[in-house]
Amino acid sequence: MGKHEKTDIGVSTILNPVPVVMISCAGKDQAKPNIMTAAWAGTINSEPPMLSVSIRKSRYSHKLITETGEFVVNLVSKSLCKACDYCGVRSGLDEDKFKTMGLTPVKASGLEYAYAIKESPVSISCKVKDVLELGSHDMFIADIEAVTADSYLLDDKGRLCLDNAKLVAYNHGEYFLLGEKLGFFGYSVASEEVLAKRMGRK
Ligand SMILES: Cc1cc2nc3c(=O)[nH]c(=O)nc-3n(C[C@H](O)[C@H](O)[C@H](O)COP(=O)(O)O)c2cc1C
Repeated sequence: MGKHEKTDIGVSTILNPVPVVMISCAGKDQAKPNIMTAAWAGTINSEPPMLSVSIRKSRYSHKLITETGEFVVNLVSKSLCKACDYCGVRSGLDEDKFKTMGLTPVKASGLEYAYAIKESPVSISCKVKDVLELGSHDMFIADIEAVTADSYLLDDKGRLCLDNAKLVAYNHGEYFLLGEKLGFFGYSVASEEVLAKRMGRK
């Protein structure tokens, strides 16, 4: 059998890899900040900057986000991976996941109610613009109101060096640390000079 001979494997949500993120949110009283894990999140527009996250109605976070129209998408670094998984298998209805995981809720830039996770390298503050009821999940379509990043991720010119954040990706039910850099946007047509600078090629 040739390497690229195909087998029909059925219809499923097989798009992989995807980012895995920690969504933090709180109710209007801000008494119980919460975190849930989401793999079904993605960038959906550049101008204005927008993203979406699909959340089942049964999640406690669904209730909080619906109440305030706010949430924060926190990127997951290697050191947060275990907490990320935990926040995806336990509900804020039963416990304070910030406390259990030793994480710190901090005021989210640009938002009134939601908290960000201090230990996350990059936190994206979002305001809900629309909700699409798709079936199993409701898709929260949101404007990005602010982004904060750990200062160590900025170079001396203030540019974000996200490759230093040790980010985690999710592939078919498993977490992976991002690894070897293979190229960059447009590298297939870049000059030898640019390749040498950006890829360290001789
Ligand atoms: C890796 C991973 C990805 C997940 N992705 C989603 C998702 O995209 N949408 C969703 O509704 N639930 C997702 N979940 C499940 C929720 O995170 C989980 O039900 C969580 O306990 C909800 O917390 P809450 O009740 O405190 O809101 C995911 C769980 C894991 C472990």
